[in-house]
Amino acid sequence: MSMTSQTVLLHEISKLHSKQAQWEPYAWYKEMREHSPVFYDGDQDVWNVFLYDHAKRVLSDHQLFSNKKDRSFIPVPRDDNRSNVFFVDPPEHRNRRALLAHAFTPRSLEEWRPKIEAITEELITAMEGQTTVDIVQKLAVPLPVTVIAGLLGAPSKDREQIKCWTDILFYPYAKETYGDLVQQKAKAMKEFYDYLFPIVQEKRKHPAHDIISDLTKAELEGERLTDAEVVMSSIGLLGAGNETTTMLISNMFYAMLFDQPGVYQELRDDLSSVPKLVEEVLRFRFPSANDRQVAQDTTIFGHEMKRGQIVVAWIGAANRDAAQFPHPETFDIHRPENKRHLTFGSGPHFCLGAPLARMEANIALTAFVKRFSDIQPVEQFDVTEHLIDSGVGQSLKRLPIRLT
Ligand code: HEM
Repeated sequence: MSMTSQTVLLHEISKLHSKQAQWEPYAWYKEMREHSPVFYDGDQDVWNVFLYDHAKRVLSDHQLFSNKKDRSFIPVPRDDNRSNVFFVDPPEHRNRRALLAHAFTPRSLEEWRPKIEAITEELITAMEGQTTVDIVQKLAVPLPVTVIAGLLGAPSKDREQIKCWTDILFYPYAKETYGDLVQQKAKAMKEFYDYLFPIVQEKRKHPAHDIISDLTKAELEGERLTDAEVVMSSIGLLGAGNETTTMLISNMFYAMLFDQPGVYQELRDDLSSVPKLVEEVLRFRFPSANDRQVAQDTTIFGHEMKRGQIVVAWIGAANRDAAQFPHPETFDIHRPENKRHLTFGSGPHFCLGAPLARMEANIALTAFVKRFSDIQPVEQFDVTEHLIDSGVGQSLKRLPIRLT
């Protein structure tokens, strides 16, 4: 298949090519909100929306904007199995989502809280006595992958390998490297699949208290899921829950160091501000997007959209729409509308893992703040030396911080 028949390349739309511009796309977001809030990219036949109300409508109105997509910028190889929640619309979507949903109820998550706290304590204790730590590699990467591997019932000793596969699967496509990436992703998918398959078989025989075991028992339209379907659902969860949560935790530290340097002391004085900081990072420093396919010819947002065209909802831009968030370019943990951001989506596909991601971020930051009296950037820190291509832009591969 050719590149353009399947894949939407976001950087060809944004024309943001430098690492710095991709890391801080906010000026471009603002320009688009103000001057081209509904922008058609003719080269790729893709609509782009940047305002809050439009993005929310695209994410949630499944009758006009379908998740059954022939093309997407999401760089994960396509999986159309019967239990996939990502590429389907209501009503089919509902039963598939229900298979996973009970793992993420508040009750299920409360059972996990002590384990998440224990994993966090171990990671933070390992930082004691050091003057500089790389918070990405020492906390933001290992915490989510260990947690989600544990929830699923995959051995935690394999977390580095699991992390490596999910990184490859989510690594963004680019024009120059397209062919190589397709091959690397197919290889990672096959290895990941072959790794999980015997685990699924084993758990079907000897169920334990974990998501894979639950999936082997679950029924969809009166039939049990096959081993292959359980494997693919598990890969979906491992993928969805990993890089995103790593990015949240990394960006929390970046924001405390560079967006509002005084905020760390505020947290030290009042730990109840921790969840507010987490929400503001999700709004303020989380460049993300999602796409849908136009389901029928329609006139909407003042434009004619044709069936089959792709629409990208630029969530990171919508989150700085002044109509929703006064003084949107200011990092302010006390804004009263702080949970209105669209970073977990909106409507039927709203992120199932949002309560888990929030819990991990809150546990991690609370434990950290209790332990260390202050954090500082390292001298001559240059963010562009610490970035890696990801999702819709750049994410931190390392973030060295000084501890006191
Ligand atoms: C900060 C962390 C996270 C962010 C920003 C995030 C973001 C999102 C977004 C925007 C969607 C909706 C996609 C769409 O509408 O097309 C979504 C869906 C989903 N997320 Fe997350 N996510 C995060 C963490 C997690 C975690 C930890 C898990 C689970 C382990 C998870 C599992 C899922 C699943 C299963 C869906 C699909 C739900 C459906 O289609 O019904 N996510 N996520």
